[in-house]
Amino acid sequence: MEEKILKLKEQLENELSKVQDAAELESIRVAYLGKKGCITELLKGLKDLSDEEKKSFGQKVNLLKGEVSAKIDDYKVKLAEAEVLKEIEAMPEFDMSIPANLERGSYHPITLVQRECEKVFKSLGFVVEDYSEIVSEYECFEALNIPKHHPARDMQDTYYLENGQLLKTHTSAAQNAIYRKYKDALINEGKPIKAIFPGRCFRNEATDACHENTFFQMEGVMVGKDINISNLIFFMKTMLSEVFQRDIKVRLRPGFFPFVEPGFELDINCLICGGEGCPSCKQSGWLELCPCGMIHPEVLKAGGIDPEEYTGFAFGLGLTRLAMMKYGVKDIRDLNSGVLKSMEQFTDGE
Ligand code: DAH
Repeated sequence: MEEKILKLKEQLENELSKVQDAAELESIRVAYLGKKGCITELLKGLKDLSDEEKKSFGQKVNLLKGEVSAKIDDYKVKLAEAEVLKEIEAMPEFDMSIPANLERGSYHPITLVQRECEKVFKSLGFVVEDYSEIVSEYECFEALNIPKHHPARDMQDTYYLENGQLLKTHTSAAQNAIYRKYKDALINEGKPIKAIFPGRCFRNEATDACHENTFFQMEGVMVGKDINISNLIFFMKTMLSEVFQRDIKVRLRPGFFPFVEPGFELDINCLICGGEGCPSCKQSGWLELCPCGMIHPEVLKAGGIDPEEYTGFAFGLGLTRLAMMKYGVKDIRDLNSGVLKSMEQFTDGE
């Protein structure tokens, strides 16, 4: 019996030294200590011994059991340590000399509002288009039915480049390019044009709490067969209800813009007082939000689309104004101030 115990100890030592992973260790544990393990068998064999032998061998086998169990536990710890070391070795080099980024950045409120609008329009089947900030006079005015010397140009003075191009005064300046890009699919495949194009706009303005020389708009157009004012109202209402996360009431008032006929001012129910009347809505219960209308036949023609066959609506959403309303920004100039701390308060460090 004594010899058996010595042999088992040697054998265990030998087996443990070859163990590679936890599964192998577990099978050793089962082979020694499991229900049919060799130590369990030894304990079972005690019953055939005399009382005296039972006592002395019983103690020895129990001691062995404890030792084996402790050894296996030791190996478990060693294996786990080796695993961690392996993982550390596999990790990429970490450069301790790079300074830590102690403060998290945050998205600009206009970016947040723009993304939200894009998400909603995309889900309604609109494509999002990007367009340059420098455009031709034709794109910004003539193609939108605003000929030279038209009084509507007075309200949109801007910055001109030496080559005659200018910084766009409104996102409507991209309309012509959008119509040209998608007209073939409309005419040949009957695919309606559904696009939004957010962008930065510039105007020569005296700045105050409500006016800035640089601001953001988001233009949207839909052109197809039998597109009418109800379609316009539906899309605007859906988008605004999603952005403000509540059912938004809208109303249309007549408004003049040379590139739409009829043209409207779209107002929404005041978000502060819910329509009762308060200082924010000048007691009217309504807030002016988004000019829009049915695209003027001359504008469609300039884009290569036959106005006898197709109709469409367009809107110009003031993204800057929307962000001010959503985040309660009282002075438009804060948005371009670059004061990062003040940006964080709107976005909650998002
Ligand atoms: N582009 C106009 C502006 O900046 C806004 C506008 C009005 C856009 C009516 C539209 C529209 O698409 O239909 O003043």
